Amino acid sequence: MTIATSTQVVLASRPTGRPTVDNFRIEQAALPATPPNGVLLRVLYLSLDPYMRGRMDARKSYAPAVEIDQKMTGEAVAEVVESRHPDYRVGELVLAPTGWCDYAVIDATGLRKVDPALSSPSARLGVLGMPGFTAYSGLMLIGQPKAGDTVVVAAASGPVGSLVGQLAQMAGARAIGIAGGADKCRYVKDELGFDAAIDHRAPDMADQLAAACPGGIDVYFENVGGKIWQAVLPLLNRFARVPVCGLIAQYSGADENVDDRLSVTMRQILTKSLLVRGFINYEFADEHYPEFLRVISDGIRAGRILHKEDVVEGLEKAPEAFLGMLEGKNFGKVVVRVATA
Ligand SMILES: NC(=O)c1ccc[n+]([C@@H]2O[C@H](COP(=O)([O-])OP(=O)(O)OC[C@H]3O[C@@H](n4cnc5c(N)ncnc54)[C@H](OP(=O)(O)O)[C@@H]3O)[C@@H](O)[C@H]2O)c1
Repeated sequence: MTIATSTQVVLASRPTGRPTVDNFRIEQAALPATPPNGVLLRVLYLSLDPYMRGRMDARKSYAPAVEIDQKMTGEAVAEVVESRHPDYRVGELVLAPTGWCDYAVIDATGLRKVDPALSSPSARLGVLGMPGFTAYSGLMLIGQPKAGDTVVVAAASGPVGSLVGQLAQMAGARAIGIAGGADKCRYVKDELGFDAAIDHRAPDMADQLAAACPGGIDVYFENVGGKIWQAVLPLLNRFARVPVCGLIAQYSGADENVDDRLSVTMRQILTKSLLVRGFINYEFADEHYPEFLRVISDGIRAGRILHKEDVVEGLEKAPEAFLGMLEGKNFGKVVVRVATA
């Protein structure tokens, strides 16, 4: 099949502080011919993830920034439309770094196949994909929850936080979730079964957190930073573990109401012998990805692990949905349905 052009979302300008839809532009781009070992892909589901906010800035990070006028980076579940690689057949589904677009030509070396028998394809972007693996590796390898521990996680209704809490409970720990608004808190407590859920918008959030953790906090899975880290810090027990996964509250600038002096944090780290470990999920992938897929898909099949998706219809809605996610308007893992299988 010949597809000559792709619709894509590019970075039109760099944001100062909070991004807006004007930082993006939707345009048509010519597709190259499929090279040897390459595939032409039709995007079915595009993943929207908080890390993409960092790619919009020019500052140095663990991955390069998106250049102005270049396609936004991102992962998708896509269907092979044309293949010049011996391992991929037309009609197969793959996980691929297509970026924000409807069609892409890429080198197929090292792509992961998506088995529709294992899960719904879009789950490979959430609970059974990068966010799920982030929760699994960060909690199990760094947080190491034990029976009787208290584990706290924010963004608790999202793909990372919701799995962190459920895995903590499977390890016999108490799971305390922090989320934005009554609906998300109800979902976290009543549907996911966390022991407590606290609304971070409540003016007495720090007091509520202290009341929900009478024996202190043994594992704080850091998803958010800002005022939640400030509320957690004095509650950490000796030898508490803090997998530092993400700081979404700080991605578009600091909150001036938050006392984020490093010295306060560092004194707590020293006097409580805290183990604080930042991580990017892929550093664990070679050793632990297959075991993650097995454990979590078994859990989903057995009904022990629940997950929620927030499906947005149409590539042109991607910028607005992405900005909404940064502010918590999403409820569950955000995927954009670009096409139907
Ligand atoms: N280290 C890694 O390898 C890695 C990989 C994946 C993700 N991450 C990080 O993990 C975190 C969660 O990612 P996710 O994909 O599961 O996202 P998500 O939960 O689907 O979406 C982000 C959520 O963050 C919450 N949030 C935004 N601003 C906030 C604020 N100021 N205070 C408190 N909560 C706020 C919102 O939920 P509420 O409405 O509940 O506030 C929003 O829905 C992010 O920080 C992300 O960057 C790291």
